Amino acid sequence: MPEGPTPADHKAAARGKAKVAVLISGGGSNMAALLYASRLPDCAYEIVLVASNNPEAGGLALAKAEGVPTFALPHQGMARADHDAAMDAAIRAAGAEYIALAGYMRILTAEFVDKWQGRMLNIHPSLLPKYPGLHTHERALAAGDSHAGCSVHVVTATLDEGPLLGQCAVAVAAGDSAETLAARVLFAEHQLYARCLGAYVARWRDPAWLIAQVRQRALAQPEAEESVSHGMACFGIRGGKKFAYVSANHHGDDRTAVLVKISGVDEQATWIEQDAARYYRPAYFGADWLGVRLDLADTDWATVGDWLAHSWREVAPKRLTTLHDAAEQR
Ligand code: GRF
Repeated sequence: MPEGPTPADHKAAARGKAKVAVLISGGGSNMAALLYASRLPDCAYEIVLVASNNPEAGGLALAKAEGVPTFALPHQGMARADHDAAMDAAIRAAGAEYIALAGYMRILTAEFVDKWQGRMLNIHPSLLPKYPGLHTHERALAAGDSHAGCSVHVVTATLDEGPLLGQCAVAVAAGDSAETLAARVLFAEHQLYARCLGAYVARWRDPAWLIAQVRQRALAQPEAEESVSHGMACFGIRGGKKFAYVSANHHGDDRTAVLVKISGVDEQATWIEQDAARYYRPAYFGADWLGVRLDLADTDWATVGDWLAHSWREVAPKRLTTLHDAAEQR
């Protein structure tokens, strides 16, 4: 028998699943794969809208049959910016927090991309950075590549660029044509996209991702270095004191937090009083440390950066703070 839901499951359920709009232009097989993956237990997202620039797109009928809201607006005769704005309005009205482009054959305006920065993914049928754009399979065959494949990436202003979230290689078989290869790559796409989208929308509760976010900001402090202490990733000044620990389910407390140095018990009490869900007194640490939760879905990473800078300053020797202040003033 599976064990019952844990407190973490309850919390995740209370927060709900991430809401995703899928944009298609054609057959919509990736949309179907994303949709059915979302219907399996524990999927971190749900599809709240399937939208298309092509009212004939096959995926729209499927979405309707599955009870998923749809929106179709032909782009012919419309300025690109107006079409994008209408799509954007429909996506927002559906309550979507993320967009998954799945064979959406439109170049998006910079404004649209900007509005969905970090919240829009795309699947591309090649092993990027190889073969951005069209005719990817023909190009892989013409180059004599041993493998084709597909990539999921975050959408940025440049076509088929942006941080890669995952790739799946597909072997080129003897006698493959562009069509046979494309059909096989599509199988891989259907596995990859749901996996990457699910992981991406749930990254804010993935300790490895959270630690990476802290690492990036902690190591930006002067003379910072990383080490491990009591099983926790921690950051200190080279040859000096520690200024941050990342506590990920430490002592089974089911939370991920960064522990930072503060001035003392008064400050600690003030923060905890202000927001008892976010701040806490870390067990086995002194009153001059504060736990700042990172797994509450609304983490403001600029504020975490400020906490780390502040904490660094609490432990930094005068030699370093003076240098740092001088550099800031320049
Ligand atoms: C897929 O090959 C995808 O990688 C590309 O467009 C195609 C869409 O296929 N971006 P489908 O509409 O999902 O079947």
